[in-house]
Amino acid sequence: MRPPTPAARCTTGTARLGNPGYDDVLLMFSVGQVPGKLECFADGGSTMVRFVDDTGPEWSRRYRAMSTERLALTDPAEEVRIAFAERFGREPEGIWAAPGRANLVGEHTDYNDGFVLPLAIDHRVTVAAARRADDRLRLLSLEKGERELTLSDIGPGLVEGWAGYVAGAMWSLAREGVEVGGLDLALTSDVPVGSGLSSSAALECATVLATRDLYGGPGDPGRLALIAQRAENEIVGVPSGIMDQMASMACIAGHVLLLDTRSLVAEQVPFDLDAAGLTLLVIDTGVSHALADGAYAERRRACEAAARLLEVPALRDATEADVAAAADLLGEVLHRRARHVVTENARVLEVVDRLRAGRLDAIGPLLTASHVSLRDDYEVSAPELDTAVEAALRAGGLGARMTGAGFGGSALALAPAVEAGAVTRIVTAAFAGRGFRAPTVFAVHPAHGARRLA
Ligand code: GLA
Repeated sequence: MRPPTPAARCTTGTARLGNPGYDDVLLMFSVGQVPGKLECFADGGSTMVRFVDDTGPEWSRRYRAMSTERLALTDPAEEVRIAFAERFGREPEGIWAAPGRANLVGEHTDYNDGFVLPLAIDHRVTVAAARRADDRLRLLSLEKGERELTLSDIGPGLVEGWAGYVAGAMWSLAREGVEVGGLDLALTSDVPVGSGLSSSAALECATVLATRDLYGGPGDPGRLALIAQRAENEIVGVPSGIMDQMASMACIAGHVLLLDTRSLVAEQVPFDLDAAGLTLLVIDTGVSHALADGAYAERRRACEAAARLLEVPALRDATEADVAAAADLLGEVLHRRARHVVTENARVLEVVDRLRAGRLDAIGPLLTASHVSLRDDYEVSAPELDTAVEAALRAGGLGARMTGAGFGGSALALAPAVEAGAVTRIVTAAFAGRGFRAPTVFAVHPAHGARRLA
């Protein structure tokens, strides 16, 4: 017998939840009309709702409260499988997942052929998909709704919003010579959008992997990451580097990924937070400043101009001494931009040395130095990010920095696990004191890269 699903045969109920984060929230929910009851309880900081049935243990399921209207199964793979079957009237051919990422250090170095050190986070896009005999794409996002288009509708700037990442990924794979046909696809994502955690790369990578498995294409994660990046660059129109897609494709659990973005040679570096008694907190500021896209492209152009003046193929090939010696030639702004890139590359390699030496607890100052360089030399921070970093350090953090492109999004704080609560409290209070909206603070763990689940 099939268990009840959130979408099936609905009745409505209410529950008052005791979780501190949800105090006084009355949740409305729907669930299958079957004998049994819903039990609500707090679990590891998130509110869980469990369907308890009298007729047998196989009907027992755990749901998480997604919003005041919606419950979701706690297993996203099961959730997209059921949603796919209900919407498209058949079973999917497979289920795939790809994570978002946090970048430990190595910011704005990837489009300078430099080094980055990201980790996949335990937030991901999960897709269920099956081929179609025609060229239609029927896309269902459990968070954003439905879109329908044909393969011939896909081109630069033609597909708006989230569907552009999915369609772009398929388009890009087809550019490799793969005969890509239509697809029915259902997806769910718990990667926060606009938080600098690469929700878009996760969407591209999950789609590339699913489409590759169904229609063929390369096996190498590096090639697949380039295919996903091409979707972002050409279809969505964002001139991003390769870090996010490589992190989503190639990371493995318990490690950070040392990536040489010139050669795409990647090395997994052990990153065992638990063994070190540490936690890595994401502080999502909830803001995304409007100038982000234009400023990103402008920084890229500045780096290319600096490399030309220094007569090197890319800033990766310059040293700190080269940049210092060329201060007059570069001028004030390009000098600072180039200085950030060359010092950031050095910081990545130094962090890796300390990690290899088992000194995870000694990388904090390098993370904070990265933030200072991004704030002062590269000028891509924001008041909310600076506040997050300052407050996290004051609260006992070992190191903290903005992560991702900047101008908002998220900061990372490395802290003793026992200080996680203090960091959250003090950062939240600092935001309130400055009149900023409350940040969302959560721990991340180095997770698996993109893979097929079923
Ligand atoms: C964004 C881009 C990446 C990288 C970072 C900055 O996340 O997508 O390629 O350039 O910004 O490090």
